[in-house]
This record gives sequence, C-alpha cells and structure tokens, in this order.
Amino acid sequence: MKKLWGGRFTKTAEEWVDEFGASIPFDQELVEEDIEGSIAHVTMLGKCGILPKEDVEKIKAGLLTLLEKAKKQQLEFSVAYEDIHLNIEKMLIDEIGPVGGKLHTGRSRNDQVATDMHLYLRKRVNEIIELIKELQKVLVEKAEAHVETLIPGYTHLQRAQPVSFAHHLMAYFWMLERDRERFAESLKRINKSPLGAGALAGTTFPIDRHLTAELLGFEGIYENSIDAVSDRDFIIEFLSNSAMLMMHLSRFCEELILWSSQEFQFIELDDAFATGSSIMPQKKNPDMAELIRGKTGRVYGNLFGLLTVMKGTPLAYNKDMQEDKEGMFNTVKTVTGSLKIFAGMIATMKVNMNVMEKATKQDFSNATELADYLANKGVPFRKAHEIVGKLVLACIEKGMFLADLPLSVYKEASELFEEDIYEVLNPYTAVNRRNSAGGTGFDEVRQAIKKAKQCL
Ligand code: ARG
Repeated sequence: MKKLWGGRFTKTAEEWVDEFGASIPFDQELVEEDIEGSIAHVTMLGKCGILPKEDVEKIKAGLLTLLEKAKKQQLEFSVAYEDIHLNIEKMLIDEIGPVGGKLHTGRSRNDQVATDMHLYLRKRVNEIIELIKELQKVLVEKAEAHVETLIPGYTHLQRAQPVSFAHHLMAYFWMLERDRERFAESLKRINKSPLGAGALAGTTFPIDRHLTAELLGFEGIYENSIDAVSDRDFIIEFLSNSAMLMMHLSRFCEELILWSSQEFQFIELDDAFATGSSIMPQKKNPDMAELIRGKTGRVYGNLFGLLTVMKGTPLAYNKDMQEDKEGMFNTVKTVTGSLKIFAGMIATMKVNMNVMEKATKQDFSNATELADYLANKGVPFRKAHEIVGKLVLACIEKGMFLADLPLSVYKEASELFEEDIYEVLNPYTAVNRRNSAGGTGFDEVRQAIKKAKQCL
C-alpha cells in the first residue's frame, strides 16, 4: 500500500516487512496523547499565523472527533500505516479531507513521538505516586495496630534482636517514601516539551514552542532540538525508579512468603490473595507475593533492555528507539498491578501475634540485653560479650534459654548480675527500652508513625 511518506519510493514493502517495522500494535496505547499533542500543535500553528483559522478549526474538530472515538475504543488501526502518528494522520484526512494533511506542518514524527511519551509518562507516574501512597497508608494502619506486637528481628536470617512488628512494617514505609520521592523528582524531567524540535534541527516555520509547551501543561522546553528528539533518559529513569520499587516489593514478598510458611506461621494471607494446588488439597500458596517477586525480573529486564538499545545510537533519532515502548508499557502495567495487589494483601493479612511473640521468647535474641547490662555496670563491652557468650553456650548444652538459668549461675559468671536481669531479659522490656532515635522502642515507633502520617 502507498505510504504517507511514499513520494520518493517506486516499490512498496511486502506486508510481512511492514509488520516487522510497525509499532502500531503497541503504540496505539499512546492514542490519546498523540491526539492531544496534535491539538496543541495545530492551535499553535493557527496562533502563529502559519495556518489559516478555518483550516485550524477543521483540523481541531476532526481531531476532537477522533479523540472521542479513541476514548470509546472505536478507532481501527492498521499496520499499513506503521505507527500511531501516521494512523491518526490518515484517519484525520479520511475524516476532514486533504486539509488534514496540513497538521504535520512544522513538526516531525520524531518530536511528536517524544512528546507523546512525555505526556504518557507524566500521567502514569502521577498514578504510580498515588498508588505508592495508598500502600503506605495501608502499612501505617497495620503498624498502628501492632506497635506492641513483638517479632524476632533477623540478621543473616538468624534471630538477632526482638523488635516491634510495627517497626518492621514501617521500614517498608520509608523505603516506599524514597520511591515516591524519586518518582516525584523525575517529573521535573518528564514534564519538558520536545515538541517543535522537528526531525532534529528545528523548523523554518515561525512556531512558538513555549506556547505548545504551555498548552500541554509542560513546565518548559528542551533547550536543544537534537537532544529533544534523541533523549530517552526520562524513560530509563522511570524504568530505573520502577526497578528499585519492585526490588523493595520483592523483598517484602520474600518475607510474606517466609512468614506464611508452615515453618514461621507468623501471618496468614487472605484467601483472596492465595491459591490452592490442583493435586494437594491442603495447600494454600502465596501466589500473588511470588508473582510480584517474579515480575521484578521483567522490570529489571526492561531497564537493561532500553539501556542497551540506547548505548550505541548516534544522534539524533534512530529507529532503534522504537524499542523504548513495549518495556515502558509493560513496566507501567507491572508496577501498577503489583502496587494494587500489595495494598490488598497487606490490608487483609492475618497476623498471628501469639506465634510471633512466642518466637521472641524461645531463642537467644535477648543476649545483647545481658551484655548491655554488664556494660552499664562498667564491664568493657567486649568482656561482657564474652561472659554472655559463655552463658549462651551453657544454655545450648543444657537445652535451656537465658531466662531459665538460676541467678546462682549468673553470679558465678559475674558478681554484677542481680535479680533484675530477669526483667531485662523479657523481650517486651528489651524492645521497649530501645528508644534511641529511629529505634524500635514503642514510644519511638509511635513517633515514627506520627511522622509518617505527616508525609502522607
Ligand atoms: N514509530 C516511531 C517510534 O516509535 C515513531 C518515530 C518515527 N520516526 C521516524 N523517523 N521513522 O519511534
């Protein structure tokens, strides 16, 4: 079929070649942004006296009709017209006649596609910021309910020191806060207009780039026309921010999966976020958490995919850059879906407080308390560490815990031990006393929750 750019061609490509080159199967996702960008462009062409008013009105009306149809999913795209830009231009010409061919005055698909992507990501990033906030709210609510619920804190996945369950949950709150910050900060760069850069060199028409930028709600324009059409940093940055966010969610998933195992039994995920086995009737699998952990892989892949696409492309536009889209769409979908599922999963999970608390008692995660106890009485911490280490060893040999040892044994180890060690060994006391800034003491955790609410 004859192409919109077919003037200098004597032969047309076969359909399967067209299919390979076309982006319409995926870039139709940009349909609304593409039309919005065109409306701004043609409005500017009118204001700058480049096109006569009546042409502008006709083109605008045609574009608005197409926008309506797009919203109702009534547009039919064709591979023969390669991409969203040419599909829309063809539809416009079909709708209003040859005057539609004036729309592309003073612009190129190169600045057009970049504009579409900026508009698209601005919308999606704002949505993602809201979804992160929703998840943070859910976390704060859960944390508020569990300030005084104890859970073993781990290092090396070995029980280390008991902590407030709220404190553990709030660690994720602050990770998400950084994610939200990063996305919000990236908007500064996303919200710049490449429109009017033309193919790469600008245009001879007396266009007003600031006007189109303003009409599209951009905060400014790309300073350099070559950079404007060559830049995909803003997408890479989006993918990178998404990769970091998914890494956080994935770590959390890993914990949810562990905690809901028979071995931990700290939580039970709601039936709505779990699945059964087709063969083993007893099974309840944390599929959604596993899937989010798994989908992190594709988001990393999308980041590396685009970094690799871009590394060898000379300035300015190269067709390689058409490969920027699928990974971006896929990442938007993955991140959006994961955040929604996550909020639901956390909101509905059942916390087995008794199991958690029991776990904080039947181990040695109170050993640091004893060492601190001696250090408080003037024993150098290193020495205190050794004394308590020996007591732990004695307990292990006897199959007991520190709280089970009689005071006489303690006295033998050090004269400084008194009856009050049993209170010190209580995990509840151990947690509550850690009121250093940002620590797990209940007062500190309550303070942190208060601060978190202010962030929201
Ligand atoms: N479909 C193309 C893309 O997504 C649009 C830009 C095409 N520009 C060009 N000079 N062929 O990158």
